[in-house]
Amino acid sequence: MEESATLRIGSENYNFPLIKGTESEIAVDLRTLRSESSCITFDDGYGNTGSCESKVTFIDGEKGILRYRGYPIEQLAEKSNFLESAFALLYGELPSENQLNSFRKKISDNAGLRENMAKGLHSFAPDAHPMAVLSAMVNNLGTYHPEKSTNDRKRDLEAFDDTAALLISAIRTIAARDYRNRKGLAPIPSDPSLGYCADFLQMTFGDSNNPQPPPQKVCEALNLVFLLHADHEQNCSTSTCRMVASGGANVFASVSAAIGALWGPLHGGANMAVIKMLKDIHDSGDDGSRFIEDAKNGKKRLMGFGHRVYKNYDPRAKILNVACNDALEELGVSSPILDIARHLEEVALSDEYFIQRKLYPNVDFYSGILLEAIGFPLNMFTVIFAIGRLPGWLSHWKEIAESGSKIHRPRQVYQGATVRDYVSIEER
Ligand SMILES: CC(C)(COP(=O)(O)OP(=O)(O)OC[C@H]1O[C@@H](n2cnc3c(N)ncnc32)[C@H](O)[C@@H]1OP(=O)(O)O)[C@@H](O)C(=O)NCCC(=O)NCCS
Repeated sequence: MEESATLRIGSENYNFPLIKGTESEIAVDLRTLRSESSCITFDDGYGNTGSCESKVTFIDGEKGILRYRGYPIEQLAEKSNFLESAFALLYGELPSENQLNSFRKKISDNAGLRENMAKGLHSFAPDAHPMAVLSAMVNNLGTYHPEKSTNDRKRDLEAFDDTAALLISAIRTIAARDYRNRKGLAPIPSDPSLGYCADFLQMTFGDSNNPQPPPQKVCEALNLVFLLHADHEQNCSTSTCRMVASGGANVFASVSAAIGALWGPLHGGANMAVIKMLKDIHDSGDDGSRFIEDAKNGKKRLMGFGHRVYKNYDPRAKILNVACNDALEELGVSSPILDIARHLEEVALSDEYFIQRKLYPNVDFYSGILLEAIGFPLNMFTVIFAIGRLPGWLSHWKEIAESGSKIHRPRQVYQGATVRDYVSIEER
């Protein structure tokens, strides 16, 4: 194969080198395009633009492949757990037993919130969206750790291991405390003897008078939700995190911005949309069949189906489907909306419309059902996604900071008014 690409603009030819990825992806390196030709590229939505070279996560959407640091998601889901996979994302390799133990310990040691910070949770409007609270509180956490949020890359990198453990731990305490505040319930302190997910579930739903460890299968299913969401290469929130980091901002500010990006309904909000859709179908007296017809006629969208990148079965959805069944059985949950979900899944997987367009259930379809069954309120679904995605954001922050990358500053094709004279207000 040629080592370069030629672009003809008008009568001029320009040559550009190719960059080859370790999984054979080819990119045309256009970094000198503007200086050589005065032209820029236009790629609205960046669907054809490589914004960086990254070693964190590989996705092949056509083949349904997802790997963290080279490890297939199926193997991690079967043999690893959220914290071990988070370590691999952050540091590039699976940890030794000692490394994993000290990583876990650092995380359990950081579960508490400073008193003033916990009080700050009461300063939000009573119906503030939990994602607004989470984003603000993550930035707030940074203010309590000025030595970790200096905006000096070298110093922030030196503190990175402690910062990562602090954030991975505190994000669940913030989420749990916020949930209980809204319900008028007293906080439940972290219990370091419990695993990451069990502790989070207890801090959220526990009975302070009668603490009971949450059911094992439910902890396992939540662990899997976190693990499966831990990274997904250059998605909207991760790109936001990298963009903010590229300007030299500290980890807390970069993660806080990423949480804002994830909040959007087109990004992290899809699992909520699944449950809303299922409830609407149920309330309208449909078993799902009418909705499928409406989806095929373009009147409705079957939420939780289809994916921008995966044109094959989303590998995460396959895994979560099984865990979702196990957890529902353990919880003894049966509900009409779950019956509708199963019906939609069955019909859509055998219907030509969905088969031809490669519309398979995505991870949000099952995570929505699972989170609803565990008892998380709808507006907390994206918070769960954020807790899972945090190791990915942190890994990308680290990658940017270590690479000394330039500030990200895209160009534009200006389509506004051309030069004109100012008109005084009396003459307008
Ligand atoms: C995720 C999504 C935005 C991907 O979109 P995309 O790759 O750009 O696909 P397109 O919107 O171009 O759709 C391609 C075709 O499939 C159809 N289609 C895509 N998703 C569909 C869905 N969920 N229900 C019904 N039809 C769908 C489109 O109408 C289009 O049909 P056409 O070729 O007859 O015009 C889209 O599948 C979607 O909206 N899904 C539901 C929301 C969701 O679950 N999002 C979470 C993603 S993780």
